[in-house]
Amino acid sequence: MYNNLLLREENGILIVTINREKALNALNTQTMLELKQLFEEDAPQRAIHGVILTGAGPKAFVAGADISEFLTLDVEKGREMAQRGHDTFFAIERFPKPVIAAVNGFALGGGCELAMACHMRIASENARFGQPEVSLGIIPGYGGTQRLIQHIGKGKAMELLLTGDMIAAPEALQLGLVNHVVPQESLLDKAQEILAKIAAKGPVAVTKVIESVNAYFQFDAFGFDTEVTAFAHTTGTSDFKEGASAFLEKRSPAFQGK
Ligand code: COA
Repeated sequence: MYNNLLLREENGILIVTINREKALNALNTQTMLELKQLFEEDAPQRAIHGVILTGAGPKAFVAGADISEFLTLDVEKGREMAQRGHDTFFAIERFPKPVIAAVNGFALGGGCELAMACHMRIASENARFGQPEVSLGIIPGYGGTQRLIQHIGKGKAMELLLTGDMIAAPEALQLGLVNHVVPQESLLDKAQEILAKIAAKGPVAVTKVIESVNAYFQFDAFGFDTEVTAFAHTTGTSDFKEGASAFLEKRSPAFQGK
């Protein structure tokens, strides 16, 4: 079904590995199509409570779009490529279950953009982040000019986007680009630990938090209004009644996802 993605499910978590190690997991067209299919069609059907995205091998998460495909690009194909990337990365950002990027090395260009579209980022100590597109005479095309500002603010985003400089994991942590930095061998464990914690929470509430947080950055929606509607929705769920009752009865809640 997939040529460039390895999928496995563990304890209700879908672990997706981008598997092009020899090209440092660069996102060629085929891989982008597979990610689109995964997040738009396949993953929504699965009974999972979260997704971890990582790259094959110890060196790279994703070293960018596949530069070997660049020389055939023209304005029309470039627009198609960027639009497909935006659709795919929005599908990740709007995925109703938490998606964590386990960044196991270089996250450059499209790799940094992919990590930024995920809900959280855990980095290994050897991780490096950057948007080096200007070095190739192009700009980020998978949302990087927008999401980098969302994560680290305009001034620092402008510096990284204009210089193409890479930053190491400690600086990414300090800037708020990543949630945690851990030794490479602990990367998946840390992501799994966070997802396991979330799995014990009310599933509808989890989905509505993702929706409301995303709305902050949506210019066609006023985030506070989205939050009111989402909050109202959760108060009508049986999970909410169960959660509140369990607290009052001093027991653990048994959520049904309804
Ligand atoms: N697209 C296609 N192939 C890529 C790639 C990319 N974005 N990034 C790395 N590769 C390939 C290299 O061409 C090389 O292939 P080869 O073994 O057939 O020659 C292989 O992956 C290993 O990369 P290499 O450059 O030899 O490793 P390195 O350790 O010297 O450098 C990087 C690692 C990440 C610094 C370097 O590969 C790099 O700068 N990559 C491009 C990053 C980039 O500009 N991304 C944004 C694209 S818009």
